[in-house]
Amino acid sequence: MLEVEFSLLSASRVGPESGLELQAEFEAHGETLKRAVEAIRERAGDPKAMLGWIRLPEDTEGARRVRRFQEARPWVRDLVVLGIGGSALGAKALAHALTPQNPPARLYFVDNVEPAPIARLLGELDPATTLVVAISKSGKTAETMAAFLIFRDWLERHLGQHATDHLVAVTDPQNGPLRTYAASEGLASFDIPPDVGGRFSVFSAVGLLPLAFAGVQLEDLLMGARRANAKGLEAAAKSALALYLLYRYRQKPIHVLMPYSTRMALIPAWFVQLHAESLGKAYDRRGSRVHVGPTPLPALGATDQHSLLQLLQEGPFDKVVTFVRLRHHDHDLEIPGAPGLSPLRFLFGKRLGALLDAEATATPLALAKAGRPSLTIWIDRVDEASLGELLQFFMWQTAIFGELLGINAFDQPGVELAKRYTYALMGHEGYEELRGEIDEA
Ligand code: PA5
Repeated sequence: MLEVEFSLLSASRVGPESGLELQAEFEAHGETLKRAVEAIRERAGDPKAMLGWIRLPEDTEGARRVRRFQEARPWVRDLVVLGIGGSALGAKALAHALTPQNPPARLYFVDNVEPAPIARLLGELDPATTLVVAISKSGKTAETMAAFLIFRDWLERHLGQHATDHLVAVTDPQNGPLRTYAASEGLASFDIPPDVGGRFSVFSAVGLLPLAFAGVQLEDLLMGARRANAKGLEAAAKSALALYLLYRYRQKPIHVLMPYSTRMALIPAWFVQLHAESLGKAYDRRGSRVHVGPTPLPALGATDQHSLLQLLQEGPFDKVVTFVRLRHHDHDLEIPGAPGLSPLRFLFGKRLGALLDAEATATPLALAKAGRPSLTIWIDRVDEASLGELLQFFMWQTAIFGELLGINAFDQPGVELAKRYTYALMGHEGYEELRGEIDEA
């Protein structure tokens, strides 16, 4: 079960600002925090509030439907996911962490439009055993739909009328070009609930469909996420308050996420999007200009002890680190001794997991000694239940953080302008007047 250790938050006392005595702060801000959580709960029934992610873990029938779909397609050897941002990052992170040996299919995520890797992938795949899953809530994201056009054409050239059996759409139940196309061509399809935004959609078909083909246990994943809903709220709220206070009143605008696990290496990328798109906002809920949002930074323990750590330890006092640690190491290894290497005998006969644990203990302590605050999230192990719980915990943390900042954490108006410039550059009808603006620049 997930637990959060807050004891090193007071560390910045030796830095230029005072540290965070969370218990005292918790008492001082307890009412605000309670109101923030209540406000989210109260809005949960309103479809416009985009809080559908809270109930996704309850949808075990949805998970069964996905599983039946996968089991009915034993011919799928390669699964290509076309999606970007929230339509890719969750499944990518969980597949990286949880794919067992000999999964039903190999997964490939096409979440960029650089031509060379796509051309190479097309050259390597066998269309007869490939399933292509286009995931886009809007159904019109340029990157995803350009890739869809390329893969659809490739399948049609190789398989003719059977191409449609190799295409799946995961999109809004009613709106958007991908939904219209899926309906007119009779493609298999799954819905993204209208009240679930991309970065909060990992426990819908957006995440579950690819993960089923990766051999991930969907039931356990959802069970873990339900555990966060049932038991994780206090810890999520407390961690949101800690990060908020450090951001707002202790000049800590940079928030690092550093799991001590290579299998969890892609979870920070998912977290970065979750915090960046949810919390980086120009206006608050009342329409006042605020320009808020911590800068999330991904890291990996122990690897980045030989990279970022120098900066974390001695650079500006502007960061707080969230570590994620495992209580158990599966498949632990003993470090053998070797004659002639006696300077290394402190390692002989020790478990490799013990070395990783020692590093995960040493780093926050060293940071604390230098006045750098951190918090540590403990999970049992890298498995479906623990990661389901962790991701749902982070979604709650983000929603509560957004509430404390007074902003809407569920929109992303800031990504629109670059999108419109792209449309203008690519000759999309209706964006002609932006073309002049671009040419002038
Ligand atoms: O979190 C979000 O809402 C975004 O990152 C979207 O997931 C991303 O822009 C892709 O959008 P779509 O699913 O409409 O293709």
